[in-house]
Amino acid sequence: MHREEKIWLTLSFGMIMIFMFITGYQAFAQGMAPPSNKEIIDPQKVDQQASFDKPGITKIGDKEYEVVMTLQVFSFNPGNIEVPAGSTVHFTLTSKDVVHGFEVAGTNLNAMVPPGHIQKITQKFDKAGTYLVLCNEYCGAGHQMMSTTITVK
Ligand code: CUA
Repeated sequence: MHREEKIWLTLSFGMIMIFMFITGYQAFAQGMAPPSNKEIIDPQKVDQQASFDKPGITKIGDKEYEVVMTLQVFSFNPGNIEVPAGSTVHFTLTSKDVVHGFEVAGTNLNAMVPPGHIQKITQKFDKAGTYLVLCNEYCGAGHQMMSTTITVK
């Protein structure tokens, strides 16, 4: 092997080790891993469990809302949510059947919603408009029809 080849191999291996160390340090020592999948739920009994027995939108403060939502083939319940501009919305999501996705186009909201887990995610909606909500995990024959909207006004 050429000397320069050895140098490049050593450098690139060293870089991989450094990146893996940084990522591992952030995830485990600094707790920067995604904070999802911490709460579990029986997907067969979503309807009986608070607060998923009453999915909906609740005002919990000044320009602050909580949305409890179930995802199922092929819909979001509740759908077509409306909030005033400048609202902070706390989403609590779960699936009643298979893996679904919760992506809000034009925002950073993009969550996987697997059955058996409770997904919590918060977003502030500053700009008025109609935001398209899409399921971005293939969930069956009607997957491409699984969408709703969030209207901010
Ligand atoms: Cu639900 Cu794709």
